[in-house]
Amino acid sequence: MSIRTMSRFAWFLRPERQGFPQRFSIAGARVLCAVAVFSPAFLHGASDLGAAPSQGGEFVNTLMPQPSSLTVQSGAFPLNGALTVCFTGVHDKMLDDAVARALGQFEEETGMAMSGAPACGPAQAQLQIDVQHPAEAVQSIDEDDSYSLVVGKDRVLLQAPNDLGALHGLQTLLQLVQEQAGGYVFPAVSISDKPRFKWRGLMIDCGRHFEPVPVILRTLDGMAAVKLNVFHWHLTEDQGFRAESLRFPKLQEMGSDGLYYTQSEMREVVEYAHARGIRVVPEFDMPGHSTSWFVGYPQLASGPGPYHVERVFGVHDAAMDPTQESTYVFLDAFIGEMAGIFPDAYMHIGGDESNGKQWLANPKIRAFMRKNGMAKPADLQVYFNRRLLAILKKYHKHMVGWDEILAPGLPKDAVVQSWRNLDSLRMGTEEGYHEILSGPYYLDHMESAEEHYLADPLPANSGFSAAQENLVLGGEICMWGEHISAQTIDSRIWPRAAAIAERFWSPAGVRDVNDMYRRLWVESLRLDALGLEQISGPQRMLRELGGSASPTELEALASVLEPVSFGQRYSLQKTDQLTPLNGLVDAVVPDPPARHAFAESVQNYLATSPANQNDQAALEKLFGSWRQTASKLEPFMQSSPRLVGYAARAQELGQLGQIGQEAIQYLNAPAGEPSDWEKETLARMDAIHEERILVRFAILDPLRKLVVAAGASRSHLQ
Ligand code: ACM
Repeated sequence: MSIRTMSRFAWFLRPERQGFPQRFSIAGARVLCAVAVFSPAFLHGASDLGAAPSQGGEFVNTLMPQPSSLTVQSGAFPLNGALTVCFTGVHDKMLDDAVARALGQFEEETGMAMSGAPACGPAQAQLQIDVQHPAEAVQSIDEDDSYSLVVGKDRVLLQAPNDLGALHGLQTLLQLVQEQAGGYVFPAVSISDKPRFKWRGLMIDCGRHFEPVPVILRTLDGMAAVKLNVFHWHLTEDQGFRAESLRFPKLQEMGSDGLYYTQSEMREVVEYAHARGIRVVPEFDMPGHSTSWFVGYPQLASGPGPYHVERVFGVHDAAMDPTQESTYVFLDAFIGEMAGIFPDAYMHIGGDESNGKQWLANPKIRAFMRKNGMAKPADLQVYFNRRLLAILKKYHKHMVGWDEILAPGLPKDAVVQSWRNLDSLRMGTEEGYHEILSGPYYLDHMESAEEHYLADPLPANSGFSAAQENLVLGGEICMWGEHISAQTIDSRIWPRAAAIAERFWSPAGVRDVNDMYRRLWVESLRLDALGLEQISGPQRMLRELGGSASPTELEALASVLEPVSFGQRYSLQKTDQLTPLNGLVDAVVPDPPARHAFAESVQNYLATSPANQNDQAALEKLFGSWRQTASKLEPFMQSSPRLVGYAARAQELGQLGQIGQEAIQYLNAPAGEPSDWEKETLARMDAIHEERILVRFAILDPLRKLVVAAGASRSHLQ
């Protein structure tokens, strides 16, 4: 079992108390209906719990990521259509296109025609854009991302040192739109903003499952919206070689099942990303995770073969032969060809999970190791990396690799991507290497947005010296491909990636989890409106699963379920590349909005003494709805071919509803509680928690708190 495999095996909008008096532009109208559809049980249960924070006047802060500095003024700029835009500094196609896209989005959001006069004098401009320099032709890691945005009552001024900052400022302006007094406004604010880290990445593994170009393009739109700026494109895996090579066409012809990106598609992605302020760093994983290269070119491998596209996930023995010169001749030509497509200064060579077995099994390679004083496979990998580095240098590329490349002898200009644990970040920076942190940002682990959000690339207690801190370039979110398809990838990436994007951009002190969730749900609605499908996709999948007779209760159940962890799914289902990814486990989303909403409701309810009657009534209603859902849904699921395997969860939802009702009853009348109720109830919940089905309840922890509080209220009496 691979180390990665081992470690991977190993709200909803809190509305105003009185409903939704503050409506958030795009989010505004949709908040109501999306929550209703997404989580009907919760709409009744918790919609009147909590109050959204407001920062002066009418402004409701739904910005994500939070800017580094924000001052709220009084008043607002009214959006009345035909926004006049003028450029008082340099401006170019990149900026023109970004403004045209933003105007299109304003138009979508407000229903008003927005295109203003393309050029105008500053005196007439409602939106004045003042940029000092164009962006670099090839976006560099050191380019200035900063901008300032001042919204007054009759004009908006966006200033930036270069186009990139202006692009970020436009995204902030898009997030500022709010409904007010029957119209739309930009609330008057003054923002001065810059990122905390310069490398804010998202990696997508398109090797294990291919993702079509439109999926990649809409993902880039989402990345730009939350100010992520590096798309790390994992293009080769044991399960597929996805990049077209004209020099070595058997790579894609024999190694991809016909699912690969043509050179013109890869160029299109690079161009689309560049227009949105995003660098594209391609990854060609070697010497391991490389079976798909050998299907067409077995002479590169260290073992005899034959090779076929691997269907099974995990770590395989197949590895390139680092001891023969012909390997480097091939790689030189291949990397040269790819360097012509990917202009970024960085190229990723993978380097992870090479187990050395094929090397040790090959007498010629063992002899090479002996002759060159290499005691173990890791020493041979250092040799391979040094040879690769020379090739990358020839094509003016810096090398990036997963943290296995961090071994004595690694040249200092390699960048290490830390994924296994934080030690490699520490060790790498102690030794003077630039680092990118990924370990806490593995989306396939199915952890909550909160867990990812609170993991900081530079925690306050890291003990890093200033020099070490400077070596941490930033972080990268990882979306590995075992369990994602074009239909499910959005709901695995979003909205959690938006919370992590805030970690990479905003000041370290921005860590209020409740506030993050409040804004995350609004941002999720915006992203879905932009064309991502993390809300609409799961709804569609549920409809398909339930068929034409699908009751609305199926959505209620789905809203409190989430997929089990990566490792649990892998072992329960024995997934491989051909496993269909269209079951209930694929339709439910990690960290569903209902989880945090329910946790907050329980917390608020327990924090008030005597209990707020509205809060209590809302919870009682919610638990009642769980029981009703269960009684209607279970027979339906039992007779539904695609849902029968999950029917136990419907029945358990009813049990959880009953547990909730009992907890509230005993909190109100502790004397009536049977002596071992708490113990027995927690044991029942532990049994429900057991991950023997592919989906688990996301709401067990807050319910446990309620049960424990009910138990404690009785012992208090004794
Ligand atoms: C990895 O997860 N193998 C980098």
